Amino acid sequence: MTESATFWNRIAEKYAKSPVSDPDSYELKLKRTQEFFTPESNVLEFGCGTGTTALIHAPHVKRILATDISEKMIEICNRKLADTDHTNVEFRQGTLNTLKLAPNSFDVVMGHSILHLVPDMDAAIAKTYEVLKPGGIFVSSTVCMSETAARFMIPILRIGRWFGRFPYVRSLKVATVEQKVKDAGFDIVERTSPGSKMVCFLIARKP
Ligand SMILES: C[S@@+](CC[C@H](N)C(=O)[O-])C[C@H]1O[C@@H](n2cnc3c(N)ncnc32)[C@H](O)[C@@H]1O
Repeated sequence: MTESATFWNRIAEKYAKSPVSDPDSYELKLKRTQEFFTPESNVLEFGCGTGTTALIHAPHVKRILATDISEKMIEICNRKLADTDHTNVEFRQGTLNTLKLAPNSFDVVMGHSILHLVPDMDAAIAKTYEVLKPGGIFVSSTVCMSETAARFMIPILRIGRWFGRFPYVRSLKVATVEQKVKDAGFDIVERTSPGSKMVCFLIARKP
């Protein structure tokens, strides 16, 4: 098991109980995302956590494959799925590297609160590009600690990681996230920071 999975497994039940921190911004991001869905959309989410977003979007698309590195998170997702009537959602444990995802197969890929947590962000964005169909949409929401006073947390997180208490966290600027997405070949459709300067909400299109 990877270091990150151990951390997320440990906190999964607590994470499931924590409320959405900024409901208005969350609603706005859901709404903006749904504007790109059709009833035929095949959607991938990576780093899906406890599955809340995938389950909300399910009625608007044909199929959602929602994935996470943590098997405890996936257990919670499946518990929540069992309480719904959705037949078009599948939760699967794994990462963009370990899952066998066919190139050019998804209409929309979502990655929320995850790009700053993957050790190889460039590879994650490149894989996202690869699995999207031409014209497909990448929706991401990324924590950018370098933008705010939260940057003072970075040394503490590094020390915590050294002692095995925290997962890998990368300190990013909003402009860096946007540039990396552009460098992978995407066209930026929208960049906003709903609710906080520390958030980079990006909608990008694979040409
Ligand atoms: C901050 S939570 C965000 C969860 C959810 N997307 C949300 O917005 O609430 C980060 C999630 O990413 C998962 N994760 C961390 N590293 C990952 C990786 N390399 N690949 C896939 N998932 C990962 C964690 O298990 C956790 O569920």
